[in-house]
Amino acid sequence: MPPKPQILILGQQGQVAWELQRTLPLLGNTTVLGSQDLDLADTKKLRDTIQTLRPQIVVNAAAYTAVDKAESDRDNAKAINHTAPQLLAEETAKLGSLLVHYSTDYVFDGTKTGAYVENDATNPLGVYGATKLGGEQAIQAVGGDHLIFRTTWVYGTRGKNFLLTILRLAAEKPELKIVADQIGAPTWSRSIAAATAQVIGQWPQKPSSGLYHLSAAGVTSWHGFANKIVDLSRQIDPDRTLAVDKILPIPATDYPTPAARPSNSQLDSSKLWQTFGVQLNNWERDLDLAMQPASY
Ligand SMILES: NC(=O)c1ccc[n+]([C@@H]2O[C@H](COP(=O)([O-])OP(=O)(O)OC[C@H]3O[C@@H](n4cnc5c(N)ncnc54)[C@H](OP(=O)(O)O)[C@@H]3O)[C@@H](O)[C@H]2O)c1
Repeated sequence: MPPKPQILILGQQGQVAWELQRTLPLLGNTTVLGSQDLDLADTKKLRDTIQTLRPQIVVNAAAYTAVDKAESDRDNAKAINHTAPQLLAEETAKLGSLLVHYSTDYVFDGTKTGAYVENDATNPLGVYGATKLGGEQAIQAVGGDHLIFRTTWVYGTRGKNFLLTILRLAAEKPELKIVADQIGAPTWSRSIAAATAQVIGQWPQKPSSGLYHLSAAGVTSWHGFANKIVDLSRQIDPDRTLAVDKILPIPATDYPTPAARPSNSQLDSSKLWQTFGVQLNNWERDLDLAMQPASY
């Protein structure tokens, strides 16, 4: 039996990184570094860390994810989302190691009808999407072993996300107004981590470097997502008192944000299925699982 690989996980407290810390120890010996251990903007320390630890696999789940703040903080967003993945790609390539990285539907402008495939034309609407696209392209240009998973509408039982925001607002307010003209598939961070482990588990027997869409199946709007969260909350815990009575659909134009969002965030994940036999659940099924008390 070959020795277990050394796996470095970056992004300790993040939604996806947190779940990776539960799944990846099954595959190898994991080391986890958060921003307090390694600031990804510190380019020298980043290179030194990879060369000192010499991991066979680096899973980068750290990112500058503050989409609106990025509009006025381009340099920092670029340092974390573009330059750091480029350096990770360079250092892992030197070692002959695998770099696993996450990207986003925000590389697209959302004008396509139907789900985006990996080689659809990109056209980010904001700084976050542009810097994430820069990171993808830099990793591909370096040309070492890599897997880039573009995911979308990530939520989980910890961190900052739509599920936890709606649960909080529904407990406080009788009426919520939620955007109904942006569509996508809410994707559970735990399912992203499980799928990542399933793919890494096939490495290096099935080396297929490249870019893959990794999204829950099905489609809804933010308004549909909010309705489902409230319905499930009432179903799962009938004793919980929610103040909310009405969830009103609004257009995105009634909820202006510094960064524009794509109106269509659907990602077609069939390449992942065809290459690795990995597929995520329908978003409603996963949301039900995520909201069960046992998932917290
Ligand atoms: N959230 C979404 O809806 C969404 C959608 C599509 C794609 N994605 C992508 O999926 C991946 C995972 O996202 P997520 O939702 O799990 O992110 P998240 O919960 O926002 O976590 C991001 C992590 O990055 C770390 N980080 C930020 N700046 C850093 C720095 N300078 N140095 C080191 N670490 C730093 C943060 O550390 P601290 O907590 O210590 O600051 C945090 O642990 C990212 O690549 C993201 O772009 C996310």
